[in-house]
Amino acid sequence: MAFDLDISKDISKEERYKLLLPQIKALIKDEKNFLANISNITSALKYSFENFLWTGFYFTDDKNPAELVLGPFQGRVACTRIKYGQGVCGTSAANKETIIVKDVKDFPGHIVCDSLSRSEIVVPVIKKGKVLGVLDIDSNVKCNFDKTDGKYLNLIVENILYIFPDE
Ligand code: SME
Repeated sequence: MAFDLDISKDISKEERYKLLLPQIKALIKDEKNFLANISNITSALKYSFENFLWTGFYFTDDKNPAELVLGPFQGRVACTRIKYGQGVCGTSAANKETIIVKDVKDFPGHIVCDSLSRSEIVVPVIKKGKVLGVLDIDSNVKCNFDKTDGKYLNLIVENILYIFPDE
């Protein structure tokens, strides 16, 4: 099976997300393995947008529930553990909210993993009220993320929630 989103066309960000969502759903529908699916999702996201520098998941650590641990990602090496309340990821997990950072320099406590990162969006993954982790996307371009990204990345998370283990 090939994943080949046509990104050469001059289409809006919204149209791009609308093309991507059904393809992500198709990508995971016949596979039961969580890691295989979540890994492919990070790649599908990364290679669908030219300005996505780093895409990946941090998961709430089973052994330290107030801590996130690095999951599958596409991009350069990242920090492995982030406490709830720390950085953009930890704040999103602690507050159960999507955070859009227009300029990483303006977010107090932003954790620098890739010095090329200029803006960031983090969407919490919440199932049955429990934060299972976060989807983190960094861009090499300032102000890359807005409400459209928030809307569609939340929609993507909603649509892939069923693959996350309940406990
Ligand atoms: N910048 C993030 C850390 C994770 S990396 O960007 C992959 C943060 O402040 O939480």
